[in-house]
Amino acid sequence: MAKFLFVTDLDNTLVGDDNALTELNDRLHKTRQEHGSKVVYATGRSPVLYQELKEEKNLLEPDALILAVGTEIYLDGSGNPDSEWSEKLSSGWNRDVVVAKTTQFPELVPQPNSEQRPFKVSFFLQEEPSARVLPELQSELQQSGLNVKLIYSSGIDLDIVPHHSDKGQAVQFLRQKWKFVAEQTVVCGDSGNDIALFAAGSERGIIVGNARPELLQWHNEHPADYRYLATNFCAGGILEGLKHFGFLE
Ligand code: GLC
Ligand code: MG
Repeated sequence: MAKFLFVTDLDNTLVGDDNALTELNDRLHKTRQEHGSKVVYATGRSPVLYQELKEEKNLLEPDALILAVGTEIYLDGSGNPDSEWSEKLSSGWNRDVVVAKTTQFPELVPQPNSEQRPFKVSFFLQEEPSARVLPELQSELQQSGLNVKLIYSSGIDLDIVPHHSDKGQAVQFLRQKWKFVAEQTVVCGDSGNDIALFAAGSERGIIVGNARPELLQWHNEHPADYRYLATNFCAGGILEGLKHFGFLE
């Protein structure tokens, strides 16, 4: 077994099956000690909501954290987001203008304050109006010259972030920093905000068995032999995928 870079989403991917999570944590802890593998969490959560989950589920301490859908990267347990990454995101981003534009859409219900971040404006948007609202919002933002990206997940969560920012771009940044090639990197997810993890390069991908329709649809439209659709759910699906790719015995 060789060392690898392990990147996983949290909600309904790493977390969701407590027994499988215990087993996976054991295996990850070992490969980190024996081979120098690295563990990274890539989540939509803010620092506050991440800490809550970390304590509740007793998560392993990661080597780096990608929070707020890729807009914040925390290295080596630092409490401050990596400034090199923040600087990359600031060009062309204007949070106030984004917020002002969104007020024209009554369907957008702001998420709690903790989830509003320097490079992320987040709303709840029901699935039913989303097919109409998302393209309208996109063109409204584009007309104001804003280079932003809309990320819609789980039929409810809408994140507006700088265009060159998502979980996948954040992983590329870490790969380059730590010198892991795509073949030595595995990314795992279950929903819309994870599509960027699978789309950014040719990292080994594990889609857990409980994945949401938006991710399954994207996977069907973009088949690739370096991506594995697991049968098992959550951490059980990750264990299955890691064995499939030969990262674990
Ligand atoms: C997490 C975040 C939320 C975000 C969602 C999808 O639930 O707390 O702000 O919208 O992930 O990325
Ligand atoms: Mg998830």
